[in-house]
Amino acid sequence: MKALTKDSRNEINMPLVGFGTYQLSTKEAETSVTEALKAGYRHIDSAEGYQNEEGTGRALKASGLSRDDFFITTKLFPGNKQWDAPEKTYEQTVETLKKQLADLQLDHVDLYLIHAPLAELRLEQWKALVELKKLGLTKHIGVSNYDETRIHELLSAGLPKPEANQIEFHPINTQPGLSKFMSEHSMAPIAYSSLAPLANWRMAEGQGGEVLAEKKQEAQGVITEVAHELNVTEAKLLLRWGLQHGYAILTRSTKPERIQENIDLFDFEIPQSHMDRLDQLNQDQPFAWAAHGLNPMEAAPAL
Ligand SMILES: NC(=O)c1ccc[n+]([C@@H]2O[C@H](COP(=O)([O-])OP(=O)(O)OC[C@H]3O[C@@H](n4cnc5c(N)ncnc54)[C@H](OP(=O)(O)O)[C@@H]3O)[C@@H](O)[C@H]2O)c1
Repeated sequence: MKALTKDSRNEINMPLVGFGTYQLSTKEAETSVTEALKAGYRHIDSAEGYQNEEGTGRALKASGLSRDDFFITTKLFPGNKQWDAPEKTYEQTVETLKKQLADLQLDHVDLYLIHAPLAELRLEQWKALVELKKLGLTKHIGVSNYDETRIHELLSAGLPKPEANQIEFHPINTQPGLSKFMSEHSMAPIAYSSLAPLANWRMAEGQGGEVLAEKKQEAQGVITEVAHELNVTEAKLLLRWGLQHGYAILTRSTKPERIQENIDLFDFEIPQSHMDRLDQLNQDQPFAWAAHGLNPMEAAPAL
């Protein structure tokens, strides 16, 4: 493994620790992103579906950072017939990023993703992302919550390969086959909800962390033990575990001390024996979308 430092970047020049903005109000996005930039984060993860991009835009603008100093990802909400959300066409996909850029007060993003393969129109949406890259409105394009089958759909249609795939990745949900596939196809892996195994994950009112909580209990004992042995917090252990697996990671908090804690990941290393112990906790069990009643990797309608 190449030595990890706070300045490490992956193959699409993404700083390895990103600040996520899910479940933040527009005001909270503004204050939390401001705090994150002060703490040293230079990678922000946003989405149309988070409905708070104006707050993130205000924080970026007020930071005074120059455009090349930060990396920002955002995502297209593709639509979902099951939720009565109309699917985005090619033209609507192009228009969506333009509207997001206006909210973010930017002329381009660094990475644009299809949030999940929820639409029948996903090939058309991917073609629109290819066009958005050509137009210079995004530097890189990728997907999120795509498994091998959904990625093959794009490749067998003769379309460009996604440059990145953002997936739920933590010791209880490692999907080793998918990680290997992404590595073989040189797709940058990005982990979300690294902290899902924690007992306090998304426990604020309405955040849905209680759904499937019983499936974490066994793993939590081991995580507590390993964190204790290495003398680090459980949060730092889980985030560093993702980094040592070669992933960029995303983390989100509204609390300044946790925002700082979650980026201070470069002064310790998890020995291989402890990595192996954590890897054994895998159940291929996702949690992040469970409160919405679905697993986004298995929700793709037939084409
Ligand atoms: N592509 C997708 O489908 C998808 C899905 C989910 C998430 N994401 C992205 O990934 C980002 C991260 O995922 P996530 O929102 O699930 O966040 P996360 O960082 O895995 O977990 C956040 C939860 O952990 C708590 N927490 C944060 N730092 C902590 C610490 N140091 N110690 C103890 N508890 C801590 C937070 O509470 P407090 O706020 O109270 O600190 C919150 O309840 C999202 O914000 C989003 O950008 C993408």
